[in-house]
Parts: sequence; C-alpha cells; structure tokens
Amino acid sequence: MAKNRIRKAVIPAAGLGTRFLPATKAMPKEMLPIVDKPTIQYIVEEAVEAGIEDIIIVTGKGKRAIEDHFDRASELEELLSSKNKVEQLHQIQEISKLAHIHYIRQPRPLGLGHAIWCANRFVGDESFVVLLGDDIVRGGASSLREMIQFAEESNSSVIGVKEVLPKDVSRYGIVDCEPSTTNVCQIRDLVEKPHPDEAPSNLAIIGRYVLAPEIFGFLEKGRVGVGGEIQLTDALVELNRIHAMYAYTYGGDRYDVGEKLGFIQATLEFALDRPELRSAVIDLMEAIAERAKVNS
Ligand code: G1P
Repeated sequence: MAKNRIRKAVIPAAGLGTRFLPATKAMPKEMLPIVDKPTIQYIVEEAVEAGIEDIIIVTGKGKRAIEDHFDRASELEELLSSKNKVEQLHQIQEISKLAHIHYIRQPRPLGLGHAIWCANRFVGDESFVVLLGDDIVRGGASSLREMIQFAEESNSSVIGVKEVLPKDVSRYGIVDCEPSTTNVCQIRDLVEKPHPDEAPSNLAIIGRYVLAPEIFGFLEKGRVGVGGEIQLTDALVELNRIHAMYAYTYGGDRYDVGEKLGFIQATLEFALDRPELRSAVIDLMEAIAERAKVNS
C-alpha cells in the first residue's frame, strides 16, 4: 500500500471552557496565556515542529480571537516598526507564518467526536493528526514526529498515551494493550472515562492522535456516549476492529491546562524555563510558600 506522508492536523477548539469561568465568558479558553503565549500557540508550534504543514482549527461561537491571533496584525506591526521594537515585531510576524491555518465552525457543541467530524472535508482521504488543546506537552514534538513516522510506516493509527495514577483513570480515555517491552503496543480495546474498578489499565489517552480517515465513517454515525456527547474514543473502538491501532507512550512533560491546578503548574514551570524570569520566580515561589506556612 502507498505510504502517504501525513501533513494535516486538526485542533478542536470549540469547547465552552466552563471550567475557567468567568475568564472564558467572553474569551476563548484557548487564548488563556501560559506566561505570555496563548495555550493554542503551544499546540500549533508542537504540530509544526513535528512536520505538520496544514492545520484546521475547529472553532465555534465566540472564538474569533483565535483567528485574529494567527492572522497578520498590520496596525500593530506598523506601530512596533515605527517604535523600532524589532524583537516584538519579529515575534508577532512569526505567529502568522507558522503554518497554513484554516478554520471551520462546529455549529453546536455536540462533543469531541463531532468536532473532529466537522473537519472531514478538509482532511479527505488521508491519515491525519489530532491535537487537543487541554494537553500541553513540554518537549512533545519529537514524540509526535515519531508517532507520525510509525503510523506512516505501519499504515496504522497511533494514539499517544501516558501512565496516570489509578485514581485518575476516570478523567481519561484508557487503552487496553497487548503486552510490550517497547514504548509502542497494539491496542486491544479502549474505554472512555471508566470507573477506576473497571479500567483495563492506567494508560491514559493524552490529546495526541494519528488517525486513519476511516474514523470519519464511525464519527458520522453520531453515537452519543459518556456525558451525552459524541465521543472520539467510541469511534476509535470501532476503527480498531477493522484497522491496526497502536498506543505510543508519549515523552515530555504533560500539563492538563484544562484544569486549574495543571494551568497554574504549567505557568510556573514555563516561567522557570525563561532565563530572564527564572531566579525572580524561584524567589517569589519561596516567599509565597513561606508566607502560606506562617498563615496556616
Ligand atoms: C478527551 C478524550 C479523552 C482523553 C482526554 C485527554 O477528554 O475524550 O479520551 O483522555 O481528552 O485530555 P476531555 O478531556 O475532552 O473530557
């Protein structure tokens, strides 16, 4: 079978962001910044670093700021240029050159599976990548590149996974795998947000997938699953019956920025990565911890 190069990615960004209200009342949750960069830019950069050229972002009502962010900003560029702020000018110009970014709207919030389905005409008959915006992975691009290579060579679908604590399995899609001694294993089955007593393992799906286009046929059925939503994991269960599917243990540090604590942790750790902020942030954290101890 011909091995086509995988070059398209879908980023669903239509969610309402209710966990971050009131901040997300009038602003897309994908635009919340980690230090000074919106979370969705980290996701787009990871895709681009892994070799993706075309990205479709599935948006919805109130998501205009995402399109503006990846577009040119002529007035701002002129202003920065007239003030000779070369570094900032370069920084904002680069954002609009990251990749070919396209947009499609999900008309109603019917779930992740439906959001992915909305991209079917853009993807066509090719395997493609899905990146979920709630999972930021520091150093994730090399894993994504490996996942893509593996999928291209084996003509299979590949799901990024990471071990989680048994108590946390009910927050994720969980895979049941054939035993393996490497970081890749064949998937026997998948289950969305199982009760801890019923989870087949503690290998959780993180938001990185390389999928065969046949997934759209299963998403099209619009079967409603956990939480009353059309779930991607349910369509994966069906795809797995007709097509080889592997789990790939993703490297890097993952932050669940869809949760408040994960968001705060990512903010602190990404700030520590910045040489100009590092020592001041350490001092700040120490002072805050000290004060909190005294006050408790
Ligand atoms: C989605 C998927 C789930 C996956 C998770 C990763 O769930 O349905 O399988 O484990 O993303 O973040 P959500 O977080 O949208 O409820």
